[in-house]
Amino acid sequence: MTLGEGWTPMLRSKRYANVYVKEEGANPTGSFKARGLALAVTMAKHYGLKKLAVPSAGNAAGALAAYAAAAGIEANIFMPKDVPFANYVEAMMYGANVTLVDGLISDCGRIVAERKEKEGWFDISTLKEPFRIEGKKTMGYELVEQLGWEYPAAVFYPTGGGVGLIGMWKAFAELEELGWVKAGKRPKMIAVQSAGCAPMARAFDSGEKVSQMWQNAETFASGLRVPKPYGDYIMLEILKESGGVALAFPDEQILASLKDWAKNEGIFLSPEGAASTVAYDHLIKTGYLKPEDKVVLFNTGAGLKYTDVTAEAAGLKRPS
Ligand SMILES: Cc1ncc(COP(=O)(O)O)c(C=O)c1O
Repeated sequence: MTLGEGWTPMLRSKRYANVYVKEEGANPTGSFKARGLALAVTMAKHYGLKKLAVPSAGNAAGALAAYAAAAGIEANIFMPKDVPFANYVEAMMYGANVTLVDGLISDCGRIVAERKEKEGWFDISTLKEPFRIEGKKTMGYELVEQLGWEYPAAVFYPTGGGVGLIGMWKAFAELEELGWVKAGKRPKMIAVQSAGCAPMARAFDSGEKVSQMWQNAETFASGLRVPKPYGDYIMLEILKESGGVALAFPDEQILASLKDWAKNEGIFLSPEGAASTVAYDHLIKTGYLKPEDKVVLFNTGAGLKYTDVTAEAAGLKRPS
């Protein structure tokens, strides 16, 4: 089943010769979540599942709702009550059963776990079924193909649950096994978070094998409000193996970069995507990367899905 996901544009920056932006906002429902849920819902239909449930930071909810509608399957969605309004509206329009929760994705996950057996729901949460990662790994295939079957020096990935990062690492192994990628080192994987919710950056800095639950998570990069990623230990291994890092930046810096890229490149990043551009500037400044290093920054969602939260962060009001 498809709604046209994947093969998203690889945009070249106007200002930085070796910076490419993988524009995942071009996917159906405006985010990379479409890739994983297209496959997971297709397989759910194949196996005859009738009722799916998901805890979501927002974009997975919209994507599940769309593919479930296309498949004729019931979608039960639990997401924080302060998700970007677009996430609520899209899920409602696609006909999902939507519950807004006074809490975070971790609280939503708990509700799904408690109710799923009684309700007969299949839990389609991140890394609790095998297919979302298979859908998301296509980002890894595409970026290598779009760069002429060569690896970039680094890949910047706005990290919540981390399925894309884990999926891309798998894609690289598969491409190597197939002999499709020209010689070269795998990219450094850069996990990017907001300072308002940075369990991966904290775990990486302190050399831990798993992350600790982040308390009072708060950021306008709503997709990054994942206080304790389920696959944290896998990501930490990948970061180490790739020679990468996990970094976090305050929302003010993320907003400044979002405005900079909109004004100077014509690219309206999501707050999550703008965390990548901040991280790139930082790693150039510290000398970790050189301007001649080819890098791919993921804009995981369309800026236009966030007009309410971005306007609020920017203090922007409609003139009355
Ligand atoms: C736009 C956006 N970027 C990044 C993420 C984090 O993705 P993942 O959970 O795969 O790390 C999300 C998750 O909701 C998201 O919506």
